[in-house]
Amino acid sequence: MEKNSNADLDRLLKSGLSDITHAENSKNLEAVRVQLLGKQGSVTSQLKVIGSLAPEDRSAFGAAVNRVRAELTTAIESRSLAIVEVERQIKIESQRIDVTLPGRGLEPGGLHPVTRTLRKIERIFLRAGFNIAYGPEIEDDFHNFEALNIPKNHPARAMHDTFYLDPETVLRTHTSPVQVRYLENNHPPVNVIAPGRVYRCDSDVTHTPMFHQLEGLAVDTDISFGDLKGILIFFLQEFFERDLPVRFRPSFFPFTEPSAEVDMGCVFCDGAGCRICGQSGWLEVLGCGMVHPEVFAQVGIDNERYTGYAFGLGIERLTMLRYGVNDLRVFFENEVSFLRQFT
Ligand code: PHE
Repeated sequence: MEKNSNADLDRLLKSGLSDITHAENSKNLEAVRVQLLGKQGSVTSQLKVIGSLAPEDRSAFGAAVNRVRAELTTAIESRSLAIVEVERQIKIESQRIDVTLPGRGLEPGGLHPVTRTLRKIERIFLRAGFNIAYGPEIEDDFHNFEALNIPKNHPARAMHDTFYLDPETVLRTHTSPVQVRYLENNHPPVNVIAPGRVYRCDSDVTHTPMFHQLEGLAVDTDISFGDLKGILIFFLQEFFERDLPVRFRPSFFPFTEPSAEVDMGCVFCDGAGCRICGQSGWLEVLGCGMVHPEVFAQVGIDNERYTGYAFGLGIERLTMLRYGVNDLRVFFENEVSFLRQFT
């Protein structure tokens, strides 16, 4: 009996130690511990055998069981330390931060190319002594048309593809109504630019229903067409940062007389002729003219005493020419890959 029991204890120790060594994680190890040393554990049950032994054998067997228990306990403790360390390493590994990876950072946004162009244009005219004025995008028929010498049924209205909100109210088709509003409220001398959104019921590759214009207006006692030419040539050379040829072509606008369209040497082919300028070597960039006496009359300015010039340019068009953008629609699609080029 004693021999047997000691052999049992030996086996128990060996298999217990082996189970402990093979426990891979704290959970397994705890299961092994319960199985060996728990209340119903195999070692614990050996203690219960003691009572059935001959009294003289009890203390030796008891001591043997306690040794086994102590040895297993030590083994479990050291295995536990090892497992905790391994588990800590695994956790560290899984939470490891590669400090060499690029940071997420804060990507700074940028101004929309149309805004950039607008600011650039404004800076040039501010340097030349102009003020900035604004007018409403929802405009009445009087300011958008009538006061600009475009009476009802005037064929020029057909050119404008107007969005009507009601028969007397429109989304402004150009920034020229700001000329009228400004002259209603300010006495000459006047030197003003008026940037803003305009709307036309038109949409294709080269037209969007909303786009941006910038109006210019100068009124004083002796403003001449020469002043108009001077400011526009100055502006184009500053804006394109090049010494470009500029030409004035006779044209028609109801609110200016004489009227002209301004062309500049094609920035893409330097005037040699290319697809963008339609082989002409020239790009049309803006409309202008001397303020029509009828416009002065509409706002109560003495048209015998005062003269003035006005011009209007398209911001998107100038942006396309300045940055070599060949599709108008990219300005409105907000593709980040496009916009990022301007940050
Ligand atoms: N308002 C005109 C347009 O939209 C441009 C223009 C402005 C022409 C001022 C002459 C003078 O086409």
